[in-house]
Amino acid sequence: MEERVERRAQVLLSISAEEEINFKDGINFVRSKEDGKNYIIYKDGDKMRACKNLCKHRGGLFIKDIEDLSSRSVRCTKHNWKLDVSTMKYTNPPESICQDELVIERGEGAGLSLVERNPPNPWDADPKDPEALAFEEVQVSSTCDKMNFFPLQKPA
Ligand code: FES
Repeated sequence: MEERVERRAQVLLSISAEEEINFKDGINFVRSKEDGKNYIIYKDGDKMRACKNLCKHRGGLFIKDIEDLSSRSVRCTKHNWKLDVSTMKYTNPPESICQDELVIERGEGAGLSLVERNPPNPWDADPKDPEALAFEEVQVSSTCDKMNFFPLQKPA
């Protein structure tokens, strides 16, 4: 029998509209006043990405990487791993892992919440048995940092 993993969502941090206004384009370091935990919010115009400020190597704290002129990278204070927060990919060591991204949710009021989903991917929460694809059922395209799947229209 297939074991089903329950998917949970937990609000880790709530940010008021006044605090959000102070975010600058690029990297923003945020600390929770309630539990002292640290987060990183990357802002690019009206788009934002967020993650815990917690290195996947051994839990080190990230700081701004002053060697990165693009202002997209942070550097771990323990062993110098680097994370590009615009893509959530570690760049040092190169070609390595991704940082788990937090979901940014906007409620009915102003401000936003950083939400952790566990497990982060829905296919981990409700895995399905693999099924064979019909010929030309799916078209796959990719760019450097994302992959898109398009179901094709069946001919009439
Ligand atoms: S804990 Fe971050 S590089 Fe080791």
